[in-house]
This record gives sequence, C-alpha cells and structure tokens, in this order.
Amino acid sequence: MSTNSLTITDNRTGETYEVPIQDETINAINLRKIKVQQDDFGMMTYDPGYTNTASCKSRITFIDGDKGILEYRGYPIEQLAEKSSFLEVSYLIIHGELPTADQLAHWEQRIMRHTYIHENLTDMLKTFRYDAHPMGILVSAIASMSTLHPEAKEVHNPEVRMKQIYRIMGKLPTVAAFAYRHRIGRPYNYPDSTLGYSGNFLYMLDFMGQSNYEVNPVLARALDILFILHADHEQNCSTSAMRSIGSSEADPYSSMAGAAAALYGPLHGGANEAVLRMLGEIGSVSNIPSFIERVKKREVLLMGFGHRVYKNYDPRARIIKKVAYEVFEVTQKNPLLDVAIELERIALEDDFFVSRKLYPNVDFYSGIIYQAMGFPVDMFPVLFALGRAPGWLAQWVEMVDDPEQRISRPRQIYLGERGRDYVPVDQR
Ligand code: CMC
Repeated sequence: MSTNSLTITDNRTGETYEVPIQDETINAINLRKIKVQQDDFGMMTYDPGYTNTASCKSRITFIDGDKGILEYRGYPIEQLAEKSSFLEVSYLIIHGELPTADQLAHWEQRIMRHTYIHENLTDMLKTFRYDAHPMGILVSAIASMSTLHPEAKEVHNPEVRMKQIYRIMGKLPTVAAFAYRHRIGRPYNYPDSTLGYSGNFLYMLDFMGQSNYEVNPVLARALDILFILHADHEQNCSTSAMRSIGSSEADPYSSMAGAAAALYGPLHGGANEAVLRMLGEIGSVSNIPSFIERVKKREVLLMGFGHRVYKNYDPRARIIKKVAYEVFEVTQKNPLLDVAIELERIALEDDFFVSRKLYPNVDFYSGIIYQAMGFPVDMFPVLFALGRAPGWLAQWVEMVDDPEQRISRPRQIYLGERGRDYVPVDQR
C-alpha cells in the first residue's frame, strides 16, 4: 500500500477505502466510491464558501496567510511594489516571467495603443443617470464591450485572446475615467498614451484644459503601487467568478463583467468604500471605544479587518501604510488617518480581534489614500477593478488552457420536498 494516501473506514459498512494524496490534497471524486448501497450516489464533501476546497491548480499567486506572505509568480510583493511598475507586474502575472526590456516596451506600447474606446461605448456611458455608481457603469461597460469585439468568443485562440487582453488593459482606465467625469458632469478627456498607464489615468480624470497641466509623479507612482498590490490574489470571490463564468467558454468581457460585479460587494472590493464610510461615521478618536464595543456585540463589522486567507498582518496593508505618508506629502493629510491608526492600535490589542486573528487587510488604508487624492468613495471599487484586471485575465487564460478544467458545476445537498402532486390554485 502506498504511504502517500488516506485510509478511510466507513463505519456504516465497515468498508475501508484508500484515497491517494497529491499536493497535500485528495481528489474529491475519489470519495464517490464510498457507498452503502451499490446504487447510492456516493460520498460528497460539503464546503459552503469553499473554505477548504481547491478548485484549480495554479502557478500565478502564492499566499501563506499564516505568515503574511504574498508572491506573484514567485516574486515577493514587497520587491515588486518597490521596484516594478503596474504594467510590468501585469506582464509577469499574465506571461509568467518578468519581461526583457524589448518585451516590456512592446507590451506597454500594445496596451497604451488600446486606450481609446469605441464611440458607441462613449455614447452609452453618457446615457447613465447623473448619479450612477461608477462600478455599475464599469460592469455594464465591460459587458457591452463583448458586443464590439465578437471575435473574443474564440477563447481557445491564443492570438485572439492576447488581443482582448491588450484591449481590456488599455480601455478599462478610459471607461473608469469617463464614468468619473460623467458623475461630476465634466466632458470626457481622451487618452494621452505618452503619459504612461497611471499618469494617463490621472490625466483623464483631472485635466480641465490647463495650459500648464502636469501629472504629479508622486501620485502617479502611488497609484501604480496600489494597482500592483491589487493585481492578483489567487482564488478570491471575483477571480472565482471570472473562472466560473469563463468555464462555460463565455468571452472574456462577459466573464470579466461577472468578476467586476462580484468585486462590487462590500465584503470584497467594496470594502475600502465601506471602510471610509465607517471611519467617517466614527468621526473622531474619542468615539473609537464605543465603536469597538458595537463590533464586539456584533452589531457592526470592523470593515478593513479580517481576511479569509490572512490570519496575520496583510503584507499589502503594510506597504500601503507607507505609501499613505508619501501621498500626504503632496496632498493634505487625510484627517481620518488618525482615526484609522488609533482604531488599528486598539483592535490589535483587543482579545476579540487577537483571538480571531483579525488584522488590517489591504482595504483598511487604501481608501484613505484614494480620498486624499481626491477620489470620491464610490470610485474606490473601480480602482480595485483596474488593479485586479491582470489577475482576472491571467487566471482566465490559465483556466482556459488547463486540460483538467471543466465547466464549473458544484453539487448540492438537497433537503427540500420530493414527489408532491400539483394542487390547483383554488384548492390551496
Ligand atoms: N469585524 C468583526 N468581526 C469579524 C470581522 C470583522 N471585520 N471579520 C471576521 N470577524 C469575526 C467573525 O464574526 C467570526 O467570529 P466568530 O468565529 O466568533 O463567529 C470570525 O471573526 C471569523 O470570521 P469569518 O466570518 O469566518 O471569516 P471569513 O473568512 O468568512 O470572512 C471576510 C472574511 C473578509 C469576509 C471578513 O473578515 C469580513 O467581513 N471583513 C470585513 C470586510 C472586509 O474588510 N473585506 C475586505 C477583504 S480584503 C479585500 C479583498 O480581498 O476583497
């Protein structure tokens, strides 16, 4: 008998089964042979929220949640945030290796050549109500792009796939900036590719015809770092949505619209928006103790704290905290920073949070920076989406190319009624 296996005894029947172990994991389908009667369906696992189920094999992002380690393609997030750029990290995540100088120049050129969006899409953006949430606009815009690029359906053609990647990476900042300008009732600025990815984005958001307009390099770099920190995070809710929708061979725009929709929720990409609202509600340092009591009574969540994977300080939060101070050198200090720092200090000493291993996550400080840079809160999840785009795309490509992947289709435990006869409405 191989030692790299699990021996399971079914106490209902006394039968013993050997299940092979590979990569510290057992294949769930091997449990199906565990049956009482021959015509039974066989044993399944029950895992709501997939807390202990691997849905894929991946080579993109490594996280050790207990030690607070995050690596993209084996490179630590700290080194990438310090030395790389968002577009270079996107190349790394999607292609698996850091680019040579020529490869990087080509990659940047291809993406920045795809920043203009179809005028039909611009017209569509203009039809949204003045106060439309930019995340709703983004989700709709991404979905509508599939109608403009129907060849994207050829998901097994690597060349066609790469073309869509250039388009998505190039066009998302434009859509995001247009959604923002729409919200504030200002004319849209068409892209200026010479300004680089983050610089162009800031330009499209802010430019108002000034003759001496210049992108602030500190703010552009800060934004680039924030995008790097968000670029991938393995099988999170939105990435799982991207893979799940993509598993039906839907085109990448439709899959990504679903991923962006998943990101919208306050427990995921909407968390930084929720953090800012929470800090605003707390208002001042003196109100923190009573707020903490409300958290402990489970009346509210401490937004920006806790993570499904990290049971230690989120390494991204540490980097963001540093970036915050660099941004505040340029902008005014966000007064909510004092509330956040004191909230973190008190929470990290409180047994409720310590015993549950609840630490600040990436979103605890990102919103404070975004707000200091002048972004309205409802743009925060949009910024998260821009950063996460390469991760969604890399995971989608990996899924499409993985011969072991099939259409996503979980099982259920059915607990409802069976075999009832229909009762006409007048007899109920
Ligand atoms: N405030 C107060 N209590 C919390 C919090 C929180 N933010 N997060 C978890 N807990 C408690 C939870 O009530 C539970 O307590 P108990 O064991 O006594 O019932 C315990 O801690 C374990 O939490 P969980 O709900 O089992 O954890 P989860 O893995 O299901 O949820 C989470 C992870 C991120 C959804 C959750 O921590 C949360 O809702 N945090 C606030 C929202 C937030 O900041 N989200 C951003 C995540 S980072 C960005 C991203 O990747 O999307």
